[in-house]
Amino acid sequence: MNYIWRKVCRDTTKRCVIGLGYIGLPTASLLGTKGYKVHGVDTSKHVVDTINKGKIHIVEPELDILVKSAVQSGNFSASLEPKKADIFIIAVPTPLKSDHQPDLSHVEAATKMIAPHVRRGNLVILESTSPVGTTEEVVAAILKENGCDLDKDIYVAHCPERV
Ligand SMILES: NC(=O)c1ccc[n+]([C@@H]2O[C@H](COP(=O)([O-])OP(=O)(O)OC[C@H]3O[C@@H](n4cnc5c(N)ncnc54)[C@H](O)[C@@H]3O)[C@@H](O)[C@H]2O)c1
Repeated sequence: MNYIWRKVCRDTTKRCVIGLGYIGLPTASLLGTKGYKVHGVDTSKHVVDTINKGKIHIVEPELDILVKSAVQSGNFSASLEPKKADIFIIAVPTPLKSDHQPDLSHVEAATKMIAPHVRRGNLVILESTSPVGTTEEVVAAILKENGCDLDKDIYVAHCPERV
C-alpha cells in the first residue's frame, strides 16, 4: 500500500482516473492541484463537459474550488476516452444487483476501455469497492485477454476507497 501511494503521490508521471464521481473526481482534482498531470475519463458527456468548464456535477462541499483550480492550472482535463498514462485509477460504480450480487459490469467496461492504452511499466489500481478476487479474476484477466503481458512489468493493485 505504501509503495502504491508513494508512486501515486511523488513521481512525475501521468495519471488517468476512470469514473469521475464521488470518489474519482476528488482524487483526480486533488492530484491536479498538487501539480500532477491527470486525465479524467467518464462515460457521461454531461460529466465531462461540466468538469472541463471547471464546475462539478455532484454535491460535495468545496469540491468545486478544487476542480476549478485543477482545471485552470492545466493539470486536469476530462474526456470520454482514456489516453496513455503511467497510472490508471479505476473508480467506477459497483452497485448490488437485485439478487444482491455485485454488479461488476462497470469495472469490466472500464478495464476493457483502458486495456489498449496499458503499457510496460504501468500501474493499474482498482479503487472501486469490489469482492475479494476481482483484481485478479476480473481486472488482470481482462487486461491479459486484451493483450497486456502482465509478466512484463504491468502492475495491478486493489486500493479500495474508505471514505
Ligand atoms: N461515494 C462514496 O462515498 C464511496 C465510499 C467508499 C467507496 N465507494 C466506492 O467507490 C466506487 C465509485 O463510487 P462513486 O460513489 O464515486 O460512484 P459515482 O456514481 O458517484 O461515480 C461513478 C462515475 O463513474 C462513471 N462511469 C460509470 N461507468 C464508467 C465506465 N465504464 N468508464 C468511465 N466512467 C464510468 C459514471 O458516469 C459516474 O460519473 C464504488 O465502487 C463505490 O462503492 C464510494
